[in-house]
Amino acid sequence: MRITVIGTGYLGAVHAVCMAKAGHEVLGVDQDAAKIDALAAGRAPFFEPGLPELLAEGLASGRLSFTTDAAEAATFGEVHFLCVGTPQQPGSNAADLRHLHAAVEALAPHLHRPCLVVGKSTVPVGTAAALAAKVAELAPVGAAAELAWNPEFLREGFAVEDTLRPDRLVVGVTGEHAEEVLRRVYAPVLALGTPWISTDLATSELVKTAANSFLATKISFINAMAEICDATGANVTTLADAIGHDVRIGRRFLDAGVGFGGGCLPKDIRAFHARAQELGVGSALDFLEHVDTVNLRQRARTVDAARELLGGELAGRRVTVLGATFKPDSDDIRDSPSLHVAELLLAEGAEVRVHDPEGLANTKSAHPGLECVESLEDACTGADLLLHLTAWQQYQELDPAEVAASVRTPLLLDGRNALDAGRWAAAGWTVRLLGKPA
Ligand code: UGA
Repeated sequence: MRITVIGTGYLGAVHAVCMAKAGHEVLGVDQDAAKIDALAAGRAPFFEPGLPELLAEGLASGRLSFTTDAAEAATFGEVHFLCVGTPQQPGSNAADLRHLHAAVEALAPHLHRPCLVVGKSTVPVGTAAALAAKVAELAPVGAAAELAWNPEFLREGFAVEDTLRPDRLVVGVTGEHAEEVLRRVYAPVLALGTPWISTDLATSELVKTAANSFLATKISFINAMAEICDATGANVTTLADAIGHDVRIGRRFLDAGVGFGGGCLPKDIRAFHARAQELGVGSALDFLEHVDTVNLRQRARTVDAARELLGGELAGRRVTVLGATFKPDSDDIRDSPSLHVAELLLAEGAEVRVHDPEGLANTKSAHPGLECVESLEDACTGADLLLHLTAWQQYQELDPAEVAASVRTPLLLDGRNALDAGRWAAAGWTVRLLGKPA
């Protein structure tokens, strides 16, 4: 099939290469010429395992190409995926739908043949219906330019795998034709036995925001338990293991620590609450405000623990922050708990050095006040405190004895509870964990 993917950010770039991998003819579209040039030259615009290989494969097959021209895209595709970002509005909790409307306004006036426009972005419920009306109004072909919704559940770091082998496919459609087209698009994925959920537009939009809200709630739940554990000397990891054995609860997403960040969970729970308020049912989702509060409190708790470890004063102390990205295997620093903590430490007068295997270029431009150190060894040398905030594999492989020899004081605060605390303690380190005794 001939498919366009509009928006080549995180979601779009991965979707485009995976659609080409699935055997379709794919045209990736973006108004950012630099991004399009990079993709066309085989350079992935961000770090994501597996993406460069699939990009190269798609380009070499001749089935994947890129353009900045919306009119060309309209002529090319029988299915157009909308993959633009829906960030948080500045000064508000609501989602900013500007890019989505701009994409439809650029594409629809050129739709002269029947086609399917499929939204993948995370949106406030009701957006798809409004966009369906807009497409039909702007497209010369009218209502024969149909609209469907198909939320995406990929995780950064596993984006390619999640797209090629998703847990489920969810489509919101208004008729059988759209569903039949989407079944053809996803035929290779369906052949793997992937569950297929076909529903109305509103439910499909809600599946996405509900899923992310549930995941965020799960993390804040275990972080709230970590606070109780800290107050009682209990162990949050054992607690998570024990409750996680109940299959109704499940162990995943119960890792306590500095909390969730990134370009999705934080803004999605806020936008969901804001949308519920617009709908007059805000109180149904008031709990998401608490989920957010508990999450942000972990960052302050981490700073408190660092201060306490350093004897009550951060000013003038050297703190090395291990990890800048919001999670490992990504170069994404959007709403990264690590960098928020680093900025809070800096504000209290600490000398902060930040290390990250992939996220330093982004950190340097967004956080000019932080000292970014490329070499892990140099980053640790002379430190008064190591603060482990992103669970990169590389940090788990550090030799505690070797690092101890280079720091000023062997103090470790593991804000992800991911390092082998026993090993570090055996090498002479004073170790502090969140929600568990060292
Ligand atoms: C999240 C969802 O997991 C995806 O299903 C969804 O498609 C995506 O948002 C999206 O809406 O696009 P992602 O933001 O890539 O994916 O990252 P997650 O793996 O969900 O991690 C989010 C944050 O939670 C990270 O900062 C991570 O460190 C933190 N986390 C995760 C915890 O603190 N504890 C856990 O147990 C799990």
